[in-house]
Amino acid sequence: MGLPEAREDSPGRGPVLLALRYYGGELVRLRWLTAPAMLSPALGNIGINYIAPLIVAKLVGHIADGGGSTVASVLPYVLGFAGVLLLAEALWRVGLHFLNRLDARGIEHLYVIGMDELFAKDATFFHDNFAGSLTKRVLSFASRFEDFVDTLTFSVVGSFVPLLFGSVVLWSYEPLLVVGLLAMIAFTAGCVTPLIRRRQALVNQREEAIARVSGHVADSLMNMDTVRAFGAEEREAAEHRSRVAESRRLTLRSWDYGNLRIDTLVAPMSVLTNVMGLLLAVTLGGGGHGVEAVVVAFTYYTNATRIMFEFNQIYRRLESSMTEAGQFTELLLTQPTVLDPASPQPLLSTAADVRFEQVTFAHAGAEPLFERLDLEVGSGAKIGLVGRSGGGKTTLSRLLLRMTDIDAGRILIGGQDISTLRQADLRGLIAYVPQDPAMFHRTLRDNIAFARPDATEAEIRRAAEAAHVTEFADALADGFDTMVGERGVKLSGGQRQRVALARAILRDAPILLLDEATSALDSESEVLVQKALWNLMEGRTALVVAHRLSTVATMDRLVVLDRGRIVEEGTHQQLLAAEGAYAKLWQHQSGGFLDDAPARAEPDLTCWAPPGSPSSRRRP
Ligand SMILES: Nc1ncnc2c1ncn2[C@@H]1O[C@H](COP(=O)(O)OP(=O)(O)OP(=O)(O)O)[C@@H](O)[C@H]1O
Ligand SMILES: [Mg+2]
Repeated sequence: MGLPEAREDSPGRGPVLLALRYYGGELVRLRWLTAPAMLSPALGNIGINYIAPLIVAKLVGHIADGGGSTVASVLPYVLGFAGVLLLAEALWRVGLHFLNRLDARGIEHLYVIGMDELFAKDATFFHDNFAGSLTKRVLSFASRFEDFVDTLTFSVVGSFVPLLFGSVVLWSYEPLLVVGLLAMIAFTAGCVTPLIRRRQALVNQREEAIARVSGHVADSLMNMDTVRAFGAEEREAAEHRSRVAESRRLTLRSWDYGNLRIDTLVAPMSVLTNVMGLLLAVTLGGGGHGVEAVVVAFTYYTNATRIMFEFNQIYRRLESSMTEAGQFTELLLTQPTVLDPASPQPLLSTAADVRFEQVTFAHAGAEPLFERLDLEVGSGAKIGLVGRSGGGKTTLSRLLLRMTDIDAGRILIGGQDISTLRQADLRGLIAYVPQDPAMFHRTLRDNIAFARPDATEAEIRRAAEAAHVTEFADALADGFDTMVGERGVKLSGGQRQRVALARAILRDAPILLLDEATSALDSESEVLVQKALWNLMEGRTALVVAHRLSTVATMDRLVVLDRGRIVEEGTHQQLLAAEGAYAKLWQHQSGGFLDDAPARAEPDLTCWAPPGSPSSRRRP
């Protein structure tokens, strides 16, 4: 189907070790929770699995040795038994109390660390990684901490610490019992490990199949309008069915391997170990302890051999949590390239002149787009950037914002090289309306106020009015409190642009950078919005990208970009007179001949006429 796969490869050792460092760091940071969280359940298990049976063994030994079975004679044992079980339960409750806090606080901190790391990434990173995949990775990085800690607590510390205790007790009866038990456990572990590895390969295939299902689900859902428009529901559903079937097949295969191969090996080993323990206890007599030793050996062996069945679980759960955490940490191994300088310069002046000096830049893996590009925009000047699609207009805007770093040359604002400024300071100088303005799934008000969170209601309202947002906002059921839908889907393209313009107006920055900011507006709304923009441009430096040439025809200067080169520069009239690339574009757009163009342009030009300018006075 050629659909993008949400497939994530297993990370290598480096990312997994880094993830372990983060998780270990949390355990150390929260050590006052870690110690009781891990030890209490282990002590509880000692009580339940080893001390309580030991008391029962002593009781049986006591009766067998003729100590009698009257209430008075067995009472101390029974009370001891009850006391130990109660204490063990209490230890478990205490342990879980601390474990809950350890999990919750660790996850909270990892959520914060994860997002902080992502906020520190540069724009290129987000172009190279899907948002859906990043979301899954950053959330799993935090949430899998719970699985990691729980497995350590319940299966590793909770099994092996009691086993240690059991070994000490067994030793006191008969050292051979300990040697036999530990040898059998180690032997089983050795036999099972290659099988577990093999199973892991099946688990990976299963996970990939599940990822293919989720990738297709996300892709279909995101493109549901296209699916409907092409009547492709059945085709998409069939693809989904086939992916789900594949996932079922691989899931069953991995489960069956666990059940049929691993556990069929572990089960006889465990039986053999138990039988051996019983024989040892009976034949060696437990150093004269008789019946008591038999009972102890039987129960201890039964408990200890349960660990054999857990190897698989422990390995699988630790591996799967570390794999998922590693899928996030591998993103951290490549450092972002756009960084704040070590000692950033303070903003020196409020001058807002922009200068590109000998700028060379290539998109990753592509031919250089700009080579030694020079462009100067004086403070307060209004420049129109025009030219064919793919000419580099958007890229130029993004370089000015330092979304990506240039390869050579300098970009200066107010005489300061932008790479010497803090990114936040630089971007604070610029109000940017991107070509495809994105909306947050928040209210209309929040979307506008995003430009300046401290703006008052009146300021937000004024910006909204200037960008003609109020016109449609007031007609909405919830007005400014309307949620705009994911990525703003509940707004029309033109409405989204107006919200983005309101943001720029509210931002109140000395440089305006508009990339096709009014392209989706109908001519009538454009006239209205542009008036507001002229007011906004008053006293500011403006770089305005537009395909509709009438939008920028009255700017101070027009710059024509073609394949990364400035091919022409001048005012509208100068460029028409030059009869070059711009004149040709103009001719296409005005649909007539060059000679007619200026005359035809008149009505359109008023769109961008500053208030009080000759052309606006000429308006009827
Ligand atoms: N992230 C990117 N990675 C690689 N190449 C890119 C990237 N973004 C843009 N390009 C390429 O750079 C060139 C200039 O693109 P840019 O978006 O700057 O053009 P534009 O002048 O804004 O075009 P339009 O008028 O269609 O918006 C194009 O050839 C484009 O394919
Ligand atoms: Mg563009």
